[in-house]
Amino acid sequence: MTTTYDVIVIGGGPGGYNCAIRAAQLGLKTACVDKRGTFGGTCLNVGCIPSKALLHASEVFEETAHFSDIGIKTGSVKLDLEAMMAHKDKSVEGLTKGVEYLFKKNKIDGIVGAAKLVSSNQVEVVKADGSTDTLGANAIVIATGSEPASVPGIEIDEQLIVSSTGALDLQKVPKRMIVIGGGYIGLEMGSVWRRLGSEVTVVEFLDRITPGMDGEVSKQFHRILEKQGMKFRLSTKVTGAKLLKNSVKLTVEPSGGGDEEVLEAEIVLMSIGRKPYTDALGLDAAGVTLDDRGRIDVDDHYRTNVEGIYAIGDVIAGPMLAHKAEDEAMAVAEIIAGQAGHVNYAVIPGVVYTYPEVASVGKTEEELKAAGVDYKVGKFPFS
Ligand code: FAD
Ligand code: NAI
Repeated sequence: MTTTYDVIVIGGGPGGYNCAIRAAQLGLKTACVDKRGTFGGTCLNVGCIPSKALLHASEVFEETAHFSDIGIKTGSVKLDLEAMMAHKDKSVEGLTKGVEYLFKKNKIDGIVGAAKLVSSNQVEVVKADGSTDTLGANAIVIATGSEPASVPGIEIDEQLIVSSTGALDLQKVPKRMIVIGGGYIGLEMGSVWRRLGSEVTVVEFLDRITPGMDGEVSKQFHRILEKQGMKFRLSTKVTGAKLLKNSVKLTVEPSGGGDEEVLEAEIVLMSIGRKPYTDALGLDAAGVTLDDRGRIDVDDHYRTNVEGIYAIGDVIAGPMLAHKAEDEAMAVAEIIAGQAGHVNYAVIPGVVYTYPEVASVGKTEEELKAAGVDYKVGKFPFS
């Protein structure tokens, strides 16, 4: 017999697991399905948490070199990369287990398996052992997240050309690392490996790093990272990659056209953005439509074009941030329960967790200028 839920959430990341918990707290019979094997999604497994664990550990490691400046004597400090990776894995395990505990506590059925829509109110789940279950639901929430994008023609093999997932799990410190894309991932993971000893070069297509941020902040940020030893090739595009035995040769040229040049590194990190993940989800079977950028189209109440099917998080429009997905999770659960869920998109902060951490919230000066509104600039030096 088909089990019927009030809500089935597909995806167990910050969007999915928080939606499931809120829905259960509001008295709805809820299941959350994820194919990964552990709950917590990209963020807890291969995103926010492991990257922050390595950012913290690598920052402490680099700081030890300056201990003597402030009168602390240490013996020689050595990197134990294996132990640092084990510490990162332990942080991940603790938090993903925490989600499992919260599911049990809130009486949510946490199901490990790949979910596919078969109609507007039915989900088929293929479990790891190959068995299949069909589940019914009054409401379905799609929270399947995103996956790394790549430069056309360049394949991420997670060995020499890695996404953030590979960059979080390198077994040794590469002598040279080329980072393609000077955004969140490139600057955070670039900082980690530079601190641990890599020579890091960031290749950015535009004429500035962190293009979504205030121009003045970007400029200062660029200067600070350069002082720390990170190298930058701005206004540069990658046109091809050749895999050698232990390194990659990248061909680059000025973004506006010009002479080609070859750069070589042991590891290339592809971090040019992420794209919504809807593979094998059965959107066609249910009739759910996408927008022109492959994101699930929703209205202000996270309703897709099919009644009873909702979507939240990285798979819909807006910043791909965990706290944005979480806020939408609360809102959609409340909407499904007949309450008035709401997200204020004007106040979603963004933070790049480098040293120093660079944070922003609201409109940039450029956006205010373009909108022709009155504004005042206030500045206070960090020093
Ligand atoms: P995800 O977390 O991507 O979860 C989706 C889940 O759905 C996945 O587990 C996937 O296995 C599952 N799934 C997909 N399809 C199916 C299917 N058919 N059946 C079953 N399960 C399925 N954001 C921040 O705010 N702060 C940070 O510091 C930060 N650091 C990051 C660092 C890195 C390296 C990366 C890559 C991202 C980082 N992010 C950060 C972004 C953050 O991880 C995402 O915004 C967030 O995870 C989105 O949540 P989500 O629930 O929409 O999707
Ligand atoms: P991003 O959008 O932050 O940065 C991508 C960068 O690549 C941009 O500067 C862009 O101009 C550049 N770029 C695009 N195409 C290029 C090309 N062909 N060649 C060279 N440069 C190119 O994307 P990123 O860093 O991959 O991260 C994905 C998302 O994950 C982020 O947007 C963010 O939402 C999330 N994230 C959040 C973190 C946080 O909150 N601290 C940390 C890590 C990821």
